[in-house]
Formats: sequence, C-alpha cells, structure tokens
Amino acid sequence: MRCAKCGATAVIGMRQHRLNLCAEHFVAWVPDMVARTIDKYAMFAPNERILVAVSGGKDSLALWDILIRQGYETEGVYINLGIDHEGYSDASEDKVRAFAEEHGSVPFRVVNVGEVYGKTVPDLAHTRRGKRVCSVCGLVKRHIMNRVASEGGYAAIATGHNLDDEAATLLGNTLHWQSAYLLRQAPVLPETHPRLARKVKPLCHLYERETAAYALLRGIDYVEEECPYAVKAKSIVYKGLLNQLEHRSP
Ligand code: AMP
Ligand code: FES
Ligand code: ZN
Repeated sequence: MRCAKCGATAVIGMRQHRLNLCAEHFVAWVPDMVARTIDKYAMFAPNERILVAVSGGKDSLALWDILIRQGYETEGVYINLGIDHEGYSDASEDKVRAFAEEHGSVPFRVVNVGEVYGKTVPDLAHTRRGKRVCSVCGLVKRHIMNRVASEGGYAAIATGHNLDDEAATLLGNTLHWQSAYLLRQAPVLPETHPRLARKVKPLCHLYERETAAYALLRGIDYVEEECPYAVKAKSIVYKGLLNQLEHRSP
C-alpha cells in the first residue's frame, strides 16, 4: 500500500476516500479535513474564541491539538465527574493536564462536579432513582459547558464527536423514533439564547479510526478506557452494526 501523495509506504487506507497515505501526509490531511469541515458549516471564524470540551480521550485531544496548531484561541475545559472506578475521572484529568503542559501551557480549566455540586455524578444519579448515570452525566456536562462558555464569553463550544459517534446516535434515534432528537442532530447547533453558546463538532467527518491514528502518530497520550458506565451502552452495539454494514459497502 503506497501513499497517494509521495509513494512512500502508507500507514492508513481510507476506502471511503479511495486514499492511502503515509504518516507524514496523513497528519497533514487530518487538519485539512477539519478546516474544510469548519468552513463548510461556518462553525466559527478565525478570530473567535473557542471553548474545547476535552475528556482526555483521543477525539477531543486530537481536536484541541488541531485547533491549537491552526492558531485558534482556545481554552480547554475538563469536567471531573467523580467516577471512581479504577480512578477513571482522575486518570482522565491527568491526561488533559499533561497535554496542556506539553502544548506550551495552553489555557485549561477543570470543573470538579463533586466540589461544585457537593455530589459526584454517580451520587447524583443514585439520589434520583431510576435515572441512569449516563443521562445525569449528559445533563451535568451540558449545564457546565454552557455556564463556562457564557462566563468566559466564548463564541462556541467544540466537542470531539466523530463520524462513528454521529452515525451511531443517528441510528439509535431513528430506531427509537426520537424525532425531536433527530431534528437537533447537526454539525452546528446555533446559539438559541445569549447564555447558550453555539455547539460545534469539527471532527464530524472523520472516522474514529482516523482520529485514533492521528492521536497515535502525533504522540498524544490519551485515556484508552471507555467510561465504565458506557461499556454496555447501546451506542457501542450500533457502532458494531454500522461497521458490519460499512465492511460490505464502504
Ligand atoms: P462522549 O459523550 O463521552 O462520547 O463525549 C463526546 C464529547 O464530549 C467528547 O469528545 C468531548 O468533547 C466532550 N466530553 C466528554 N466528556 C467530557 C468531560 N468529562 N469533560 C469535558 N468534555 C467532555
Ligand atoms: Fe458520563 Fe460515562 S462519561 S456516564
Ligand atoms: Zn506521503
């Protein structure tokens, strides 16, 4: 397998683009793809300040890396949910902190849910019986992101959702006739209120394996574990089904 740009040995083949690239050309191609996505959906302008929601995983750290390299003024926000299982939340926070330091101490803040709300996310879910941890977690994260963006006067909140995430959500919402959610799923959610910032997903055209390869080739150290509450989550089943379909018809 040869790189389409230089003929060197390719490290990745992207069947959907009929494109094979070497490491050097792949790490240049990914930010180009992201820049085109930002442009295509008018996500934000070069002079706008962006709040990047970083979880410590490959996608959001790759996103932050790309935006920093492209010269955007960013701040990272990590929400420590207080998930204890194998030190998941604290280990993720360490990865984000190390990334920020390695990138010339880019601005970065941590919001600790246990400290701010007096209860961690698993505790909050316990006290509201019948609520799954993941849905409480989603609510808390949205609330905090909006608050931080509004206080800091950020134009947009960028998250690391990739194409696999978006496709799995789409499939799930379709199977469950969640028409309200279907209407709201888009690369850009415009601000609906002065205190609810625009939400953007600049990685929405990249496959998960591409963001993983980018993080690996850039030497980004990320948390590989899934959230312990997500392991059985349906989205993983949907991703599996979509991968089977993709295998048959890229
Ligand atoms: P997930 O819902 O875990 O697939 O995460 C989707 C996106 O939400 C990630 O790519 C991040 O941009 C953001 N995100 C998830 N968890 C956190 C967190 N604990 N702190 C900040 N951002 C997060
Ligand atoms: Fe929210 Fe797992 S990340 S429950
Ligand atoms: Zn090449």
